[in-house]
Amino acid sequence: MAWRKVGFLGELRPDGVTGVDLDGTPVALYRIDGAVYATHGICTHALAFLTEGFVEDGKVECPLHQGVFDIRSGKALCAPLTQDIKTFAVKVEDGA
Ligand code: FES
Repeated sequence: MAWRKVGFLGELRPDGVTGVDLDGTPVALYRIDGAVYATHGICTHALAFLTEGFVEDGKVECPLHQGVFDIRSGKALCAPLTQDIKTFAVKVEDGA
């Protein structure tokens, strides 16, 4: 796997979500308890940006219909979601 640099640790909102664009793919980056996680940036239910969602307890709530994903696994946790969200491996090196 080729790693891609998408930003610096200091740019991520602590315990929140920050959006980046990876070659046209919206990616949501989460900084939770000091660790960084990444999911696809658009909800699997409809066109809603998870960067506008609400993050709490390792989960992100979609801003449109309140579907909830587990950030670490991408698992869809409640209706109306029927499809998990893609997650991406993250490596933090030298603050990036
Ligand atoms: Fe996310 Fe409907 S668009 S739950």
